[in-house]
Amino acid sequence: MTQLTTLAGRLGWQQALVITDANLLDAKVVEPVLLALAAGGVQVEVFGEGEAEPSIAVAEASMALANEVKPDVIIGVGGGSNLDLSKNTAAAFTHQGHPTDYFGFDKVPGPTIPLVCLPTTAGTGSEVSHSMVLTDTEQQIKISGQSEYFRPDWAIVDPQLTYSCPRQVAADSGIDALTHAIEAITTVDFDQLEIPLGETCAYDGRTELTSSLAERAIRICGKSLISAVNSPDDYQAKDQMALAATLAGMAFSNSGVALVHAMEYPMGGELHCSHGLGNGLLLPYVMQFNLQSRIPTFAKIARWLGETELADQTQMAEQAVKAVERIRESIGIPHRIRDIGGTEEQLQSFTEKAMNIQRLFWLNPQPANYDDIYQIYRTAY
Ligand SMILES: NC(=O)c1ccc[n+]([C@@H]2O[C@H](COP(=O)([O-])OP(=O)(O)OC[C@H]3O[C@@H](n4cnc5c(N)ncnc54)[C@H](O)[C@@H]3O)[C@@H](O)[C@H]2O)c1
Ligand SMILES: [Zn+2]
Repeated sequence: MTQLTTLAGRLGWQQALVITDANLLDAKVVEPVLLALAAGGVQVEVFGEGEAEPSIAVAEASMALANEVKPDVIIGVGGGSNLDLSKNTAAAFTHQGHPTDYFGFDKVPGPTIPLVCLPTTAGTGSEVSHSMVLTDTEQQIKISGQSEYFRPDWAIVDPQLTYSCPRQVAADSGIDALTHAIEAITTVDFDQLEIPLGETCAYDGRTELTSSLAERAIRICGKSLISAVNSPDDYQAKDQMALAATLAGMAFSNSGVALVHAMEYPMGGELHCSHGLGNGLLLPYVMQFNLQSRIPTFAKIARWLGETELADQTQMAEQAVKAVERIRESIGIPHRIRDIGGTEEQLQSFTEKAMNIQRLFWLNPQPANYDDIYQIYRTAY
């Protein structure tokens, strides 16, 4: 935490707004952050009403406090939820807009006041990503915005902040990190990315750089995810997962995420499951759908996740799906949409909403139409 004190002193911040939530305040995770800011001579106000999968109403409340306090720095402390809230507040306060003005790509008009993010889950990579996600509770869907101005100025990744994570949060956020890495390394190549005329894309497609980051994240998940979740005292595994999550965040926020995320946003919005859980549930089904387009990559993923080598590359690629199913099972992520309260009738509405997120379809290695998406949901049902 000394980095935060040093930053505060060097940059001469006067008034910080720390954006966090009641669980993290109760668990005393925020305490070292507050002490570090005080040591740097900064006045601190705390917004402690953050919530998981934050709603637009919470973003309005956080923005209202910022308007009162007039901070010269915003500090997000939490999982992806609080970090995204802090990104939204930094943009809305700086540019005096409404929290919903920043949905979509490139909607933040310019730089924001400084933003520091300290992740307390090993999952979303929001501390390094240009993405911000809120929940539209009226439309029952998660809505995201991407902007270079959402990329925090500083990310302080201290794995110790994740040690108090409940098992379920470690599982859900951990498989989110794995999803980011797998989607990042299987997106369309940067030189094959076709963007419809008149549209802009928040992502660049996969490159050697993003694939290198994703590979390392997948290898770490293969070695450490199960233990980080199931063995409360395995701090080495938890430290490794914090690294994997940030690497995966750097990978996906450049290359892109694709169908798993497009299909999770409506499901999470209607069923109120966590983002990570929804992704983890859907991931193997989408991998199966994409398999034929990415045989060599999936074969490598199977190896990185510790599967035994097979001579046949297609069979080896299929092992990647099996490996993810095994991990999903071991950390207790449900396999079926019906198990998290979804009904058969909802599959159509999920499909319609997912089809509206075409910008993520551009990144998917395998083209997908309405029937394909409906079929994937059906298989997952
Ligand atoms: N911006 C991005 O790039 C990006 C990427 C993926 C997901 N997301 C978003 O992030 C959100 C999910 O974030 P998440 O998976 O990190 O979980 P989260 O932030 O929603 O946290 C889940 C719960 O765990 C608690 N918690 C978090 N850390 C804790 C700790 N160390 N000790 C005790 N309790 C703790 C929180 O209080 C919360 O109740 C979703 O809204 C999702 O859409 C954003
Ligand atoms: Zn995600």
